[in-house]
Order: sequence, then structure tokens, then C-alpha cells
Amino acid sequence: MAKNINLKKLISQMTLEEKVGQLIQLNGENFTKSASEITGPVQSWGISEEWLNKMGSTLNFPDANTMVKIQKKHLENDPHKIPMLFMMDVIHGYRTIFPIPLGLAASFDPALVYECSRMAAREASAGGVNVTFTPMVDYARDARWGRVMETAGEDPYLACVMGATQVRAFQGDDLSDKEHIAACVKHYAAYGGAEAGRDYNTVEVSERLLREDYLPAYKACIDAGVRMIMPSFNSLNGVPSIANKWLMRKVLKKEWKFDGVVISDYNAIGELKTHGIAPNMREAAKIAFENGCDIEMMSNGYYENLCSLVREGVIDEKDVDKAVYRVLKLKKELGLFDDPYRGASYEKEMALALCPEHRAIARRAACESAVLLKNDGVLPFSKDVKKIALIGPFADSNEIKGFWSCHGKDADCVTVLEGVRAAMPDAEISVANGCSPLWNEKSTEGFAEAVSMAKEADAVVLCLGEPQTYSGEGNSRADIRLPGMQEELAKAIIAANPNCAAVLFNGRPLALTGINNCPAILEMWFPGSEGGNAAADLLFGNAVPCGKLTMSFPKEVGQCPIYYNHPSTGRPKWTAEDVHQRYASNYIGCGNLPLYCFGHGLSYTKFEYEAMELSGTRISAEESLTVSIKVKNAGKYAAKETVQLYIRDIFASTVRPVQQLVAFEKIFLAPGEAKTVTFTVTEEMLRFYDADCKHVSEAGEFVIFTGYADHRYKEARFRLD
Ligand code: GLC
Repeated sequence: MAKNINLKKLISQMTLEEKVGQLIQLNGENFTKSASEITGPVQSWGISEEWLNKMGSTLNFPDANTMVKIQKKHLENDPHKIPMLFMMDVIHGYRTIFPIPLGLAASFDPALVYECSRMAAREASAGGVNVTFTPMVDYARDARWGRVMETAGEDPYLACVMGATQVRAFQGDDLSDKEHIAACVKHYAAYGGAEAGRDYNTVEVSERLLREDYLPAYKACIDAGVRMIMPSFNSLNGVPSIANKWLMRKVLKKEWKFDGVVISDYNAIGELKTHGIAPNMREAAKIAFENGCDIEMMSNGYYENLCSLVREGVIDEKDVDKAVYRVLKLKKELGLFDDPYRGASYEKEMALALCPEHRAIARRAACESAVLLKNDGVLPFSKDVKKIALIGPFADSNEIKGFWSCHGKDADCVTVLEGVRAAMPDAEISVANGCSPLWNEKSTEGFAEAVSMAKEADAVVLCLGEPQTYSGEGNSRADIRLPGMQEELAKAIIAANPNCAAVLFNGRPLALTGINNCPAILEMWFPGSEGGNAAADLLFGNAVPCGKLTMSFPKEVGQCPIYYNHPSTGRPKWTAEDVHQRYASNYIGCGNLPLYCFGHGLSYTKFEYEAMELSGTRISAEESLTVSIKVKNAGKYAAKETVQLYIRDIFASTVRPVQQLVAFEKIFLAPGEAKTVTFTVTEEMLRFYDADCKHVSEAGEFVIFTGYADHRYKEARFRLD
């Protein structure tokens, strides 16, 4: 078969069972283990060898050798020689792991995100992956939700930019190019709106807010050409996404005209029974198929029922043909009919994995994702320090790659201890865990040793955080402080030696009030394979922090959900003090402001925003506005700064956010250097969804400002006519 294979003719030659086989996806182990070795739900399905040979795709397999083995066996048993599709979650790296997406987005550097995704695609493709279940672009406002680690945070615009960038990086301009793989945008839709931040929980969001904040990033990925989409587990306004006619038919197919492949999430069709939407798998399969789900991942609805649903005339075989066509079209685009292995090679896979070039990209990404939350002057530490104490459960831990690290290994991750040793070879370095990072381990036995070590040191690094299993899928927290006795440890260490900086490893915003007296706090997220080297680069000034938060860090978990782009209220109270104001929308004992807000991030140098000039005072559909912002590096470190531009629509027919990011640009400035950044603001950027869900802009006055959320360095006003 060659590039010009006639798919419609191929489909016409296939039996119904062979067609349905193309619409089923099982884990890789089902194709490498014998039936007796298979465990879990598939074992109970009693899938025959004959049926296994019909399956059109698989997910989760260890390496290129396994992919080749599965593909070879499949092709030997498929009369039509239709290659299988191989899919994996390449979320933030394949074997070379870069920061979790919530961290990488904090770089505010789409070019860096592109480079990291290109690296991941090269490694994954060599490993036999044809499709990645990436980008995850769910809009998230609640730090209790464990999957915030996979998102770009609380800004819809940033989620659009980061999602589309990843699609272009993974897919390139030609999917048959063996170093590119297909992308799958997920989880459609509003999975991040789970009530109370509990994973898989109910989502109730108005159509207006869905269209305003939750849906744009999926659409941005579709506009970027993403080939696949994955509906989410959650029910949305009472109906699980995969059964949600409004979502799947009205929006995805009719409005957006998505003609790529729709794949269920893992057993999501089976969960229609658990949701109470379908009484049995036959009904679940019918509902999912009629709503446009092409491939069923790891449940047996299609396997057990699709053929009979067709033969009983409930489902039209023509619709099965259309679904099969979408799947085969993707295989053809990927060049699988020409080369079913797409150049997959274990030797190439392992040569690329963690190679110096890839480690260098991961190290730079880890540096640029880090956010300096606080610095009373202790950082960067002097390179002359002789005695360094590394204290805390992450001081000598390689468990810093985060959830969804594909084939990345903890053992491949550089620890803080290893990084500091490499950066400061002549220093005397002492290490003490001090305490456990686990929420239920309250021992303080390690404090005494850690305190005495801190007293003896010239510089102390507190290495704190959450276990990497406390975020990611199914890992929500009701308490988002540092778990265990880490706050108490930090208090004791800071008291013992004020020349102390905390370095944090976590997969979500944390409530840091308990350690906010630490003289410096550096947020590293889960930085991946090069985390320890990046931490050392930043601690000792070989790199300068430039990350900006993409999610607000609350003072208390009780403030969640808390996000910068909130609507005003009739009784707003956004002031710093925590004094309770009666009859205002705030908490007794805790104000409404986060501890650290979206867009915040310090540097070792000082940036001065000298001027902001507008080309005029009016915008119209025909005439845009140019905004020029002059920034100077008034400090002594060469450094990068993300210039952020926000607007506020003063009044409109619906309540508008008190501020919203509309543009950003990252610049590099040498000490003393100044640059002018220019943005164009158009009428289209001012549009929003009104109460009737019409996408409109409305005449009126706007404030425009630079700085970051809640901190305005320069501001001006303009009118939309
Ligand atoms: C998981 C996740 C989804 C992932 C899929 C395959 O349950 O929800 O993000 O892509 O299964 O691993």
C-alpha cells in the first residue's frame, strides 16, 4: 500500500467486525501478554485472539521494540494490512523530562514550549509513538484539583497560546515527517471546573462562562490543526461530556466543524453506567457513538455491541464507515501505510533519551519555569560560601519529575544535592531531610540534627514540597499547605539561620502562609530531569529567575477557587489587609487577595517600567491601538522580563473581569539596557460573550495597564467606539 491508498475502497472491502476493530483501543499489554496473563477488566471481556488482531490502536507500551513487535504481529494477522496507531501521554517529555505544564507555562515563552515539545516528539516518535494525548488545555481555577499541574493555569488566553504552540510543535506542517507525531487536545470540556477541586467531580458552568473562559483553548488547538480530541470524564451541566449533545454535536461538529478523530478517555464510555446515564454497555456504546466518539479507549461498549447495533438497524453502518474513515485518514497522514513503524528504533530512542542536547533544553526550561516568589536579598547566594546546608525532604530527592512523566525515571533526575555539588565543588555541603513530606507523618525527630546543621552553615537551602503523587490525576487535596511537618521545620531552620532560601517542588499552588517568613522562596514546580542543576543555577546566580505565576497562590485553601481575572461584585473587597469588613464579600480573618497572584515573579535585577504610550485614545472595528511600553534593566544582572498587558472593561452588559491578560512579550535586557515593547490592541480582543452568548464588543471605556495582576506599573484609558 502506498501514499495513494484509496481509503473508501479499503473500507468497502472490510467486514463490519474489522471496521469496529478500528474503533477500539486497548492497553499495549493486551498485545504482548497471553490471555491468561491479562488482568483487570479486559480479562473479564474474554476478548478472542481473532478480535485482538482486529484492534486499530493501542496505548501505553514501553519502547520501540514493543511497538515493532505488536505492529509486526498485527500486520501478519490483518488481511488488509492496516497498521495500528500507537498512542501515549507525552505530557512534559518522553524520556527527557522537562517541567510540568503549569511550570513551563510560567516561562511565558512559547518558543521554549515549542522547543520542549519538539524534543518530546523526536524522542516519542523514535520510541514508536504516533499520537500523544497532549496538549491538556483545561482551564483551572482551583488549586485543590490535582490536575492543575497539567494546565497552563487560570488564564484562558495563556491556555490558548500554550495549547496551540504544543499542537504546532508536535504535528509540524507534515505529519508524515517521522519526527512529528499527531496531537490530541483534552479534556473536552471544562474538566478543570470540577466542583470543590475534586477530580472527576461534577461541573456546572453556564454556557456563557464556558464560551468565555473554558472553551477557547480547545478551539485554539483545533484552529492550530490538532488531529484528535478527547472528551472529559466529568458531567457538564448534568450530562457527561461524551454523552453531551450540546458539546459534542452543536459545538464541536456543527460550530467548530471538527473533522478529526474523537477518542474517549480511559473507560469513559463504561463510566456512563456509573454516572447513571446508561443502564448497560449497549446503551452506553449507542450514546457515545451517536455523539461522535470514534475510538473507545479501554471499555467494551463497542467491542460487545457496535456490530449488533448496526445489524439491528439502530446505528447506520454508513456512520461506522465515516468513523473508520477518520481513523484511517489519520493513519494515512502519518505515513503508516507506507512505513508502519515510522522509523521507530530502540537504538535511536535510547540515543536521544537524556542526550546532552536534550538535557540542556530540559535544564533551561527548568530555569525559565522557576518563579522567584520572594527575595529579601539572600539570593543569589554568594559563590564564596564555604558551608552549605541542604535541609528538607527534597534536598537529596530525585522524585522531582512530577506526574505524567511518560517513560521518564526518578533515577534520571538530578537532585538538588547533585546540582549544588556540581555548581559549588569547593563548598562543604551537609544534608538533612529534617522530616517526611507525607501529610500523615508528624515526627520531628529529624529537627535537632537539621537545626544544628543550619546553625553551622553559611547558607541554608530549605528543599520542601509535595510528593509528586499528591498532584496529577486523581490526586486532589483539601489542605494545600506543605504536607507533614515541613512548615514547622522551616520555622525552626529560619530561626536558626536567616541566610536561608526555600526551594519548592510541587504540582499546584500551595498555601505558603506558614513559611512566608522565609527570606527567599523559589518555586521550582516539578522541574524534571535537570531539576537539581537548574535549582543550583538559580540559587548561585548562574541563571536569573524570570518565571511568572500562571495560577494564584492563596493564603488559605479556604479562598479556593481564587483567580486574578474574577468578575467584580456589588461589594468587592480587594485590599491587602485581612481586616474583615462587614457587608463586604470577604472572609473573617483572611482577605480576598492571594498570597502571590497571577503574573507575579521576581528577578535578581530591577526592571523599571519607564513609560507606556498609546497611539490614540479610541479603538473601533476599523482602527486598532498601538501600545508602547519602555522597560529598563536598572540592576546589575542581565535578565529576562515578561512584559504583560492587561485591560479592564469598565462597564458592559455583563459583569467583566476586573482585569484580563490580553498580550505578553518576554524580553532580554543587559544591565542598564532599555527596550520598548509594542503591542497592538484590536476591537476583536475586547470581545466577550454577553448574556445571550453572543460574541460581542460594546462601546465604552477601558483601562489598559502593564505590570501584573493587581499591580499596575503604568496605566491609561481608551474608548471603544
Ligand atoms: C487518563 C487521563 C487522560 C489520559 C488517558 C490515557 O485517565 O484522564 O488524560 O490521556 O487516561 O492515559
